[in-house]
Amino acid sequence: STDIASRTAAVVNDLKGLEGPLLPILHGIQDEFGYVPGESLPVIADLLNLSRAEVHGVVTFYHDYRKHPAGRHVLKLCRAEACQSMGGDALAARMQQLLGIGFHETTKDGAVTLEPVYCLGLCACAPSAMLDGEVIGRLDADKVEEIAAEVRL
Ligand code: FES
Repeated sequence: STDIASRTAAVVNDLKGLEGPLLPILHGIQDEFGYVPGESLPVIADLLNLSRAEVHGVVTFYHDYRKHPAGRHVLKLCRAEACQSMGGDALAARMQQLLGIGFHETTKDGAVTLEPVYCLGLCACAPSAMLDGEVIGRLDADKVEEIAAEVRL
């Protein structure tokens, strides 16, 4: 819609003076919409004089950018080494089973989006997670059950 295009253009125009403006602009777009709409990409490309393929490539390369609107809750599970070594894999598999979705997916009722994250700086309390911006350390099977129940409310 023209709304997405004009809000995208406003974000781009705010930030395009920065050196290496593409990543901050994509972050700005995600802050604005909660995700990076497909319709934003040609607007960004035009205003930065980049090809659409270049912009698309960057959005795809970085895990930080969502291509669809998020659910009411966003649950991030740490997939980096310290958390993996503390059993993060099995807990992530259990969480996916309980929620019925994989990473980068949102439950059909829009309750929760599950995303991987690569180190939350909480390695000492591994395995770690983040729910709606709040960090959760020492994840275990009980906490996984609790979180899964809480986000579905
Ligand atoms: Fe998970 Fe650092 S590796 S918090």
